[in-house]
Amino acid sequence: MLQELEELKLNALRELDAINNLKELESWRVRYLGRKSELTRVLRSLATLPLAERKAVGAGANEVKAKLEDSLEQKEQVLRGVQLAASAEEGGIDITLPGHPFPTGRLHPITQTIYEICDIFTSMGFQVVEGPEVEWDYYNFEALNIPEEHPARDTMSTLWVDFETDSGERPMLLRTHTTSMQLRVMEKMPPPLRVVIPGRVYRYEASDATHTPMFHQIDGLAVGKGITMADLKGTLYEFARRFFGEDRKVRFRCDYFPFVEPGAEMAIECSVCGGKGCRLCGNTGWIEILGAGMTHPQVLQRAGLDPEVYSGFAFGMGIDRMPMLRYGIDDIRLFYSSDLRFLRQF
Ligand code: PHE
Repeated sequence: MLQELEELKLNALRELDAINNLKELESWRVRYLGRKSELTRVLRSLATLPLAERKAVGAGANEVKAKLEDSLEQKEQVLRGVQLAASAEEGGIDITLPGHPFPTGRLHPITQTIYEICDIFTSMGFQVVEGPEVEWDYYNFEALNIPEEHPARDTMSTLWVDFETDSGERPMLLRTHTTSMQLRVMEKMPPPLRVVIPGRVYRYEASDATHTPMFHQIDGLAVGKGITMADLKGTLYEFARRFFGEDRKVRFRCDYFPFVEPGAEMAIECSVCGGKGCRLCGNTGWIEILGAGMTHPQVLQRAGLDPEVYSGFAFGMGIDRMPMLRYGIDDIRLFYSSDLRFLRQF
């Protein structure tokens, strides 16, 4: 009996060796390991054998069974691998091929700059808010002390929205500065408040190396009791130190904006010539980066705040120039040309 089992095993393994597809493998399995196979028959008949023989034959048969099952499994793995490769040739999937790399997205340099500037101000207790790009004349101009005939309107060539009220007015526009959010914020948030407002702004201007009809600004506003010009300067100096570096000199001078009193502008030492004067800074050694000032009492009043009790400061800066200064980019239009060779560098 043991002799027969041994022969059975050798035959089975020899046949298995010659098999080269899964179909043949299945009939091999049925023949040698199936319910009607010789091996199964031997195992079933064990009970009828005398005890001494039963032990030896049982152990032998189980050993052969384990060996055949093992070999079956190995063979199956080999054949499946072969099958995959073969079906790949017919247009199937070859899992051994390397994957297709796909490009990962990244943040636009302007977006990166907005995040960086907002981070600096949020760490000083400012909150980030956003507002509508299509705006009422009231919030963009009127509420900021820039009435219909005010010359300040000329400095912000406006794109008007084709919308007429019953009385024939065209009171909607694309905001010309993010300062348009000042009154909206004061109307909604009770002081003390500190916000920064990043976003797109629009002006009716032809494009050239330093102008585009759409660009970006960040405005800041702080309103509360006892806020002074010293708070404004301290906040902006700290911003300049963190954004442009410890050593960069900043300059603060008087300037005029209808919605602040007094008004100021801040400039940084030119990054190209280090203050000596060059083409970039128009030979002045300074580059103006923002306008600022103390919130005008009339603006506070319009928001229902008593200027005898509350005061505030405001500032606004263009964003697009920041990465231009930092990376020495000489044409603002590159940001909006969707040229990946340019954008991938950031
Ligand atoms: N809105 C002004 C501009 O676009 C900048 C500014 C904002 C100035 C806030 C003072 C206060 O130039």
